[in-house]
Amino acid sequence: MPKHILITGGAGFIGSHVVRLFVNNYPDYKIINLDALTYAGNLENLKDIEHAPNYFFEKVNILDAAALETVFEKHEVSDVIHLAAESHVDRSISSPLDFVYTNIIGTVNLLNIARHRWKDNYAAHRFHHVSTDEVFGTLGDTGFFTETTSYSPNSPYSASKASSDHFVRAYGETYGMGYVITNCSNNYGPNHFPEKLIPLFINNIINNKPLPVYGKGENTRDWLFVIDHARAIDTVFHHGKNHDSYNVGGFNEWKNLDLVKLLCQLMDDRLGRAPGTSEQLINYVTDRPGHDLRYAIDASKINRELGWSPSVTFEEGLGRTIDWYLQNTEWLQHVTSGDYQKYYEGLYAGR
Ligand code: NAD
Ligand code: DAU
Repeated sequence: MPKHILITGGAGFIGSHVVRLFVNNYPDYKIINLDALTYAGNLENLKDIEHAPNYFFEKVNILDAAALETVFEKHEVSDVIHLAAESHVDRSISSPLDFVYTNIIGTVNLLNIARHRWKDNYAAHRFHHVSTDEVFGTLGDTGFFTETTSYSPNSPYSASKASSDHFVRAYGETYGMGYVITNCSNNYGPNHFPEKLIPLFINNIINNKPLPVYGKGENTRDWLFVIDHARAIDTVFHHGKNHDSYNVGGFNEWKNLDLVKLLCQLMDDRLGRAPGTSEQLINYVTDRPGHDLRYAIDASKINRELGWSPSVTFEEGLGRTIDWYLQNTEWLQHVTSGDYQKYYEGLYAGR
């Protein structure tokens, strides 16, 4: 059966890297990027492949079941890689319902349509749900999340992602639909929206603005270069065991404050500032409510069973990320000023 893969959220940070990898590596596949283009979705992320013959874009909200049905019909969708989501923890604290709608109801909409369209031959189709390590809650100073760690989400964001994981699993158990789930740690890299720690701080350092470190900066995250996450999705989509889940991580834990200081040093160097200049921008602010202390992924299963491991060191990945932001100040200006809407209307007017 020809592969017509619907990638949701493909105009976002991780989704755009996944779309690019699939468009370039699988010329025989049809890749349909479905995205509502919320504040986080940006077609500029995909300018290099927008004219590829195997690439298609559909501006659709996953809450619109009728529009989803039309897309499935029009493109004869054979598989789904589902990344579309509200993804920022801080926004989930101020607007939890947005996360319930997109992350839970939107996912169930997709599952319903896939179920009905694929029910005669589930074995020929796959629903790959892209999830997060945050569903496991928080760790103390030691230990790792494995695939069998109990779910214990602490933020509205992680509760909505946990719920969507459960729905995907339930559609597999109840209806026999084929699925895989990946739970990944914190990503970083080019095209990351500047509301998340690394791109926000790069942008603020460039503009000499304060760096708001939550609490004492003691929280720890496990950072993975976004292209390695895209490679992991490729690996699990093609070779992962049906009805199974895989943890994906960087084996790369950093306390926030240590990471911010490293970022300041690297930026001082790149911007020709005296050592220590950017560190003076650090500003300790009130902690995030319910702030998870530590995430750390045990990614040994995906390594052992499927041979995946990170290919980019943190030193290299962070350098590439900083250089990308310094070379793409226009992108930064567009996503922070709302100019992007003009780009979109210009490109798609009259189509
Ligand atoms: P992002 O916020 O950069 O992108 C999300 C994309 O989804 C955007 O293009 C947005 O327009 C689209 N979208 C949002 N709501 C939509 C809706 N209702 N209908 C259609 N499209 C909609 O997010 P990201 O950081 O690229 O994360 C992508 C996925 O990976 C999410 O599911 C997230 O939970 C998961 N994840 C992210 C990380 C991370 O570190 N960023 C780590 C692990 C897992
Ligand atoms: O672990 C995977 C998750 O990583 C993904 O599922 C989420 O979509 C993604 O947003 C990310 O969540 P975090 O909350 O870990 O990422 P964020 O960049 O928002 O924050 C990283 C750490 O930095 C966290 O401990 C909070 C802290 N922080 C963040 C911001 C934005 C600050 O200290 N100051 C800030 O201004």
